[in-house]
Amino acid sequence: MTDHAQVPASDAKDGYFTEENSADVVIARMAASKDERLRSVMSVLIWHLHAAVKEIEPTEAEWMAAIQFLTQTGQICSDWRQEYILLSDILGVSMLVDAINNRKPTGATETTVLGPFHVSNAPRYENGANICLDGKGEPLLVAGRVSDTAGKPVAGALLDVWQANDEGFYDVQQKGVQPEMNLRGIFKTDADGRYWFRSVKPKYYPIPDDGPVGKLLTAMGRHPFRPAHIHFIVGADGYQPITTHIFTPDCPYLHSDAVFGVKADLIVEFVEKDDAAQATELGFSNPFHTVECNFVLAS
Ligand code: BEZ
Ligand code: FE
Repeated sequence: MTDHAQVPASDAKDGYFTEENSADVVIARMAASKDERLRSVMSVLIWHLHAAVKEIEPTEAEWMAAIQFLTQTGQICSDWRQEYILLSDILGVSMLVDAINNRKPTGATETTVLGPFHVSNAPRYENGANICLDGKGEPLLVAGRVSDTAGKPVAGALLDVWQANDEGFYDVQQKGVQPEMNLRGIFKTDADGRYWFRSVKPKYYPIPDDGPVGKLLTAMGRHPFRPAHIHFIVGADGYQPITTHIFTPDCPYLHSDAVFGVKADLIVEFVEKDDAAQATELGFSNPFHTVECNFVLAS
């Protein structure tokens, strides 16, 4: 990281602020900070922010509009709505931070954005459980294996799973409409590293676009859709946890995900099965869908 904290306050002969020396003067004012990391991070931010303002030359009305946008972004946040994560997502910053922090040895499953709809207290289930609590949607069997980068099964790995319903809403967006904890759960791999559960085929959906971030997307000429996916956090003792998704291959939004979360390796095959006997065994209507989804963890 460039250490702008070290840049001398050029032009600041008398120490007063000018258009030319603005970043230097503000950065120099942090000299007494004992928090070196904070000083370094704030120096970079101030440096680039001042450079952007100098390039844009906003009118005062434009700058006030920017401040109002940030104010509204904060005001719409609640226990279940995080507009700042959404802002970071649509600007590609969430995926950039993810990329920087997950430079793994080859072979480990790719990571992607967490998103705002994970909850930390999802129910623990036995393998085979159905996480669709209201029976709505096209039935889907999800099954696979967790292994290490050498191909050895990882027993006892935990898979935290969540997805939207067939109308494109997470349970936390429809309190009182969907059952609590609908379409989420935690599963554990067996001695062979295997897990399996029942759910419904995911569908594409818009990220919450009724707030300031949605208005910004529209103003930028962008749509709010995420391609159909299921979220996973997979972890085990001694391995680096991964936050990831699987995507359906036939989704119209695969190449224009509103949050830039798609990676080619995360697109998996969903198979439609016409098998009345297996459907009965699974408690599904026929036909139904299956997907095999394997994860590789780096130690
Ligand atoms: C999601 O996939 O849940 C999500 C990710 C980023 C923004 C909004 C939703
Ligand atoms: Fe999602």
